[in-house]
Amino acid sequence: MTDLILTGGTVVNEGARAHADVAITDGVISAIGLPGTLGDAAEIVDVTGLHLIPGGIDMHVHFREPGYTHKEDWETGTQAAAMGGVTTVFEMPNTHPPTRSVKEFREKQALAEKACVDYGIYGLLAEDNIDEIPGLIEAGVNAFKCFMGNTFGNLPSPSTGAMLEGFEIIAPSGLRISLHAETASIMAWRQAKLEAAGKNSPLYHIAARPEVVAIEAVARAAILAEWTGARVHVLHISSAGELRPLAEAKTRGVDITGETCPCYLFLDSSDYDRLGSVIRVNPPVREKKDSIAIWEALQSGVVDMIATDHAPHTPEEKTNDIIWKADCGFPGVETQMPLMLSEVAAGRMTLEHYVRISSANPARAFGMWPAKGRIAVGAQADIAVLDMAREEVIRAERLHSRGKITPFEGRKTTGAPIHTIVRGRFVQRDRTLCDGVRGHGRQVTAIQKMPTPTPRNTDQSLAALLQQQEAAE
Ligand code: DOR
Ligand code: ZN
Repeated sequence: MTDLILTGGTVVNEGARAHADVAITDGVISAIGLPGTLGDAAEIVDVTGLHLIPGGIDMHVHFREPGYTHKEDWETGTQAAAMGGVTTVFEMPNTHPPTRSVKEFREKQALAEKACVDYGIYGLLAEDNIDEIPGLIEAGVNAFKCFMGNTFGNLPSPSTGAMLEGFEIIAPSGLRISLHAETASIMAWRQAKLEAAGKNSPLYHIAARPEVVAIEAVARAAILAEWTGARVHVLHISSAGELRPLAEAKTRGVDITGETCPCYLFLDSSDYDRLGSVIRVNPPVREKKDSIAIWEALQSGVVDMIATDHAPHTPEEKTNDIIWKADCGFPGVETQMPLMLSEVAAGRMTLEHYVRISSANPARAFGMWPAKGRIAVGAQADIAVLDMAREEVIRAERLHSRGKITPFEGRKTTGAPIHTIVRGRFVQRDRTLCDGVRGHGRQVTAIQKMPTPTPRNTDQSLAALLQQQEAAE
């Protein structure tokens, strides 16, 4: 017996759309057919006039648990995701303690069991946990995170030496390494000088982290990825300049993907005065020319996906006259889809292309395709049901995140996910969280075993010589 049929809607995948009904059985899409042709089901929901897209897959959220649960936890964070049409999140390791060992990974897995949407868990790649990495891979982390630049949590950035060794160890697993691509040493130098000179206003945050920190970090990481065959992902692309090393690396055949976040598309340096320290985020929101270039790259495919860097803090932590003392980041997992759908409504992007960047591309890059990222028979039934005409206003106090402060306060949006379905179950319905869904979320497994990439470092003659020498010793 079919569990659920969604009837009368328009199904939109990355490549096509159709008026079609969708049947779901045991959490999986069991049939897609012309309206009214799929027979009976335990529940039939009329979605006439609405659009069905694959649920959002957000590769970049900070849910703060363990350690900073006054900012967020796995329950509130995944509730915010459900409200935002997001059915899968990947959670970052800069918790307290960080996710840098098998023990800490297991502890986070236990905490995550209360999630209401599906999730992946990042392991940390840092200077001091290289020996832990094989264990983390074996234990089942979904990806790795490497902080090339410091940010919230102040995890020390690994040296290039440690990074290279980490890449060498991770590469054969096929797991992707996501990079906070800002070079720590440049930023520390700049910020110390600005602070010493008493330069404390918000715009100096950009001066402390000029575009070159991102350009240098992306270029360096791409070289290490090419050398080792590691798959990498550039998080939160903020500048026009870093698009060039990203595109060049893709041209060279490096398996490199990139994401941007709404703040880099919708805000720029002209907003610092109005927003003050609320806008502080790493990397910083930059110039108008940067957001224009990132929009173009998102359209052309140089930037592969939209994520949020959902980074909740309390209003007190975010508000300070001295920019260096305000916490960086803000919540985003709940507002990304309405913000982007507004651009679809305005004709800036097709809904098909939005599906590509919000769901299909992340699913492919992180090993979840074809089980996730599309509405198709056999795929998991992760669906956001959209009302493309629904108008809302973003209000921090109404966010489901604990981080009740956002730079998008008061912004009008057109288009919203009015239901969110995770593996066949409503977790959000009619803009309201559903009861009894605590714990419905599961950690995604490496559904598709990704082939091991080929390293550039194929020079085996030195390795052979060294082996002979060691054998003789
Ligand atoms: O602004 C940021 N905040 N950028 C990051 O990379 C981390 C995040 C956080 O965890 O607060
Ligand atoms: Zn982040």
